[in-house]
Amino acid sequence: MEQKEIIEILKNDNADELYQKAHKTRVENLGHNVYLRALIECSNVCSRNCLYCGINRENKELKRFSLSKDEIIKTAKLAKELGFKTIVLQSGENQVYDLKTMCGIIEEIKSLNLALTLSLGEKTFEEYKQYKKSGADRYLLRIETTDENLFQKMHPDGNFKNRVECLYNLKELNYETGTGILVGLPNQSIESLAKDILFFRELDADMIGLGPFIPHNKTLLKNEKAGDLELTLKVMALVRILMPNINIPATTAMETLSKNGRKKALISGANVVMPNVTPILNRENYSIYPDKKGVNALNKEELKKLYKEIEEIGDKVSGGFGTSKNFKKINK
Ligand code: 5AD
Repeated sequence: MEQKEIIEILKNDNADELYQKAHKTRVENLGHNVYLRALIECSNVCSRNCLYCGINRENKELKRFSLSKDEIIKTAKLAKELGFKTIVLQSGENQVYDLKTMCGIIEEIKSLNLALTLSLGEKTFEEYKQYKKSGADRYLLRIETTDENLFQKMHPDGNFKNRVECLYNLKELNYETGTGILVGLPNQSIESLAKDILFFRELDADMIGLGPFIPHNKTLLKNEKAGDLELTLKVMALVRILMPNINIPATTAMETLSKNGRKKALISGANVVMPNVTPILNRENYSIYPDKKGVNALNKEELKKLYKEIEEIGDKVSGGFGTSKNFKKINK
């Protein structure tokens, strides 16, 4: 599929057929298994000033927190007890955990026999290398947009080429590599969304996470329009069709925009859900966008409801680690 064809599909209003095809592609290639990942938001301290993000460093009203190593390990153990097989450790971009500390955290989580995904932002090749050596399996780093102009506007102190390089470094280090974008950023074109999709394929990403942009009232983009859920789902469905073996989460931002966002995503190509296990006290401060509506895994009733929701659409929660079928492990 070329850019022109992708653009046409994204512009087409009647997307039901596309969603059905994406669902069929997912089921044919990955079956009816849905994988759950336990998300630990370990620190909202951030040195960056990304225009859209509520935890950017200019938000002086936000109470900053960083979980200690012990708190992180305790939370990971709790996630294991709740039945999770994968931990996702996410934070703002910061130096709160020096290399040695982070490697220690990784080693301890791995000793619990869990798969571990890191989402700590742009780091050096050496840092990624040491994390991997300590046992980290996967890394999530959204490119956010491949439109270089827009990228620079959204990330005044960022560097597009460095971000791309980080992703190729992760691939080279044999991480199961995840990336993704925000859909509906101000001045983002359909053409650039098509290019984003082609970039995912070019990178040969193992996981793609997409979410609609949601304006946060403590950011410079507070008066902008939110992204469109249907457009986000269309991008996601196309990604599934073009990359049948990858993992795709039904993201929290989708659920935040629409009550059935998660369910719609799961029947349009997604096969992963990431419930939140961050200690409740810290959670409200990890507000990258307002009114986040993810599954609260610490509330057993809510977790049970998620299992039920997954069963209702004919899927089941898998007890496996859920390594991306696209991932080719190289023995280095
Ligand atoms: N709306 C939606 N998603 C956001 N993210 C950050 N800010 C927002 C927002 N305002 C997403 C980014 C980041 C991920 C962790 O959260 O894409 O990669």
